[in-house]
Amino acid sequence: MMKKYFAPGRVNLIGEHIDYNGGLVLPAALTIGIMGTFKKRDDNKIGLHSATHNFSKEIDLADELVYDASNEWTNYPIGIITQLKKEGHFVPPCDIHFESNLPGGSALSSSAAIEVLTAFMLLQQSESKIDLVWLADFCRMVENDFIGVKCGIMDQFAVALGKADNAILLNCATLEHSYIPIELNDYCLLVMNTKKPRSLIHSKYNERKAESDEALRILQVTSGIKNLCEATVPQLDAIKDEIIRKRALHVVTENLRVKESVKALRFNDLSTFGRLMNASHASLKNLYEVTGLELDTLAEEGQKIKGCLGARMTGGGFGGCAIAIVHKDSVEELKHIVGWKYKRATGLDCEIYESEIGDGVKTM
Ligand code: GLA
Repeated sequence: MMKKYFAPGRVNLIGEHIDYNGGLVLPAALTIGIMGTFKKRDDNKIGLHSATHNFSKEIDLADELVYDASNEWTNYPIGIITQLKKEGHFVPPCDIHFESNLPGGSALSSSAAIEVLTAFMLLQQSESKIDLVWLADFCRMVENDFIGVKCGIMDQFAVALGKADNAILLNCATLEHSYIPIELNDYCLLVMNTKKPRSLIHSKYNERKAESDEALRILQVTSGIKNLCEATVPQLDAIKDEIIRKRALHVVTENLRVKESVKALRFNDLSTFGRLMNASHASLKNLYEVTGLELDTLAEEGQKIKGCLGARMTGGGFGGCAIAIVHKDSVEELKHIVGWKYKRATGLDCEIYESEIGDGVKTM
């Protein structure tokens, strides 16, 4: 018998590059994502197939598996299977077919989606109740240790615990979370994909993580803070290295912007939220330096359109996607003008589309 499952992609509304600094983040799951079809097998193997990636791989459950670049995207399910086995969970022999309408490499968390989807569907076969917070943390650990990206928990959390029409306010230091209704009324959420190939993303990401860790280490000499997000702006004067101080200033002010955003969204004050989005992008550009020409062009040209309340990069950066909150009457104009200016500035064609906030991982 075949069973079907779905895991969404996500956007982060605000709170960027602070999940691994114990900060507050505000991601939301999307209605687009990855569909997984599960079918039991009688041998001791797992077949991983993807029509989207045009790639198949068969693994033997008796084998010790390690990360191997030639395994391409199957490294994500293989990492999940390896870690589930290590922790003593039952992993059933099966064929899994993946089908995605989530653009890969676009910073909409296709990797978190495939991780959470694989773990969810394998565990569903033997466990009656899956703790989704545990599941998110488990998948984050696989990404850190098996894949080698030192990411925080935001993406896996959003994919596992998303809720239609809501953003998740997640405290990454405690994993406490609550849902914030997102009522856009005459406005909509646009995703703007740079379609820039993101080759060095993993090493650059890990470099920012290391710079944040260095800032924390310096501040801990004189204060008892556990996470960089607990620092105050005046405290950052203790950091003498200019680059490390800039990184830390982004982290601390971004965390404050999330708090302000939540206040604004609770009053459905989208204009204030939009201004905070713009400030977030500027900080990611000038202080954290994770944007680049492509994301800056999309966000900054978007911000200039009348009817656009705010625009910013979302996710890890260095390419990938930006998001914007735009009046429905201005969507076509934004698509046209930003698309044209983007092509002129970068030579690339971007993709801009309206997105809905959907649920987290689920059985279909
Ligand atoms: C990537 C990581 C997340 C988070 C974002 C930046 O998406 O996987 O953990 O750090 O970048 O906010």
